[in-house]
Amino acid sequence: MVTVCLANHKGGTGKTSICINMGTYFAKKKVKTLIIDMDPQGHVAPGLGIDVGYNDRCIADVLLNQEEIASIVANSSVKGLDVAPSNIRLSLVNETLYNSFKRERRLMKSMEKIYRDKTYDLVIIDCPPSLGPLVENTLMVADYCFIPCEPSSRSIDGLADFIIKLKDVREGDLDDRWLIVLSRVKKSARLTNEVIDEKLSSYKDRIFKTKIFERESINQAQIAGIPVFDFPRGQLASDNFSKFGKEVASRCHIK
Ligand SMILES: Nc1ncnc2c1ncn2[C@@H]1O[C@H](COP(=O)(O)OP(=O)(O)OP(=O)(O)O)[C@@H](O)[C@H]1O
Ligand SMILES: [Mg+2]
Repeated sequence: MVTVCLANHKGGTGKTSICINMGTYFAKKKVKTLIIDMDPQGHVAPGLGIDVGYNDRCIADVLLNQEEIASIVANSSVKGLDVAPSNIRLSLVNETLYNSFKRERRLMKSMEKIYRDKTYDLVIIDCPPSLGPLVENTLMVADYCFIPCEPSSRSIDGLADFIIKLKDVREGDLDDRWLIVLSRVKKSARLTNEVIDEKLSSYKDRIFKTKIFERESINQAQIAGIPVFDFPRGQLASDNFSKFGKEVASRCHIK
């Protein structure tokens, strides 16, 4: 089982969209996949057509009561793609965790059974735009951390801070396994893209060759609650995610 998280304390960089569409890509390739939503905004489930109400059981209950993650898993409309959903109650857990013993190991404990039973080939974890305990819990279980980054100088300036956090939580043992995904890249912004490539040259080997381009269909598919692969006008975006998925499979040894 390979565990990949999508994390960046900057908001709106495409973390959730990548989780949903990368998860769909792998599930359609018969890689049994689970997406865990660690963001109180709870965008993963509705993005895959699953309704989650305030009182529905979710990752908040798992972390708070130290339950097995399997107890909250829902099937999505995509065969082979399951979701451990979240909702706004997770923000209350976040506050509780701040003062609890071994606060950063709660998710790890809840995942013991799916590790042992090899229930999934791939686990993808969506992070909130923050650096708090929910992100610490996620970094603790990640084999790989993908950092989606928009092509803007503010987004790039924040990268260094996120990398410091990552090194701090994992004491350096993820050092070979964090990678930057350039996302929401506008094809028309040629000059900006060139400047950004130049600014990121010191991270060159860490950047996925496949960029995720800004496409209206990605946003529209999210609104419709389906992945771009199932969206009628999503061909270009799904080709983009397929190319990205292939690169992920090869860099992270996912079969
Ligand atoms: N490549 C893209 N092209 C067009 N729209 C996109 C793309 N990626 C994301 N979006 C849209 O931008 C918004 C933010 O994207 P998303 O929710 O994936 O980011 P996020 O990093 O998860 O945000 P947050 O930090 O709030 O969790 C959403 O409305 C999404 O549909
Ligand atoms: Mg998100």
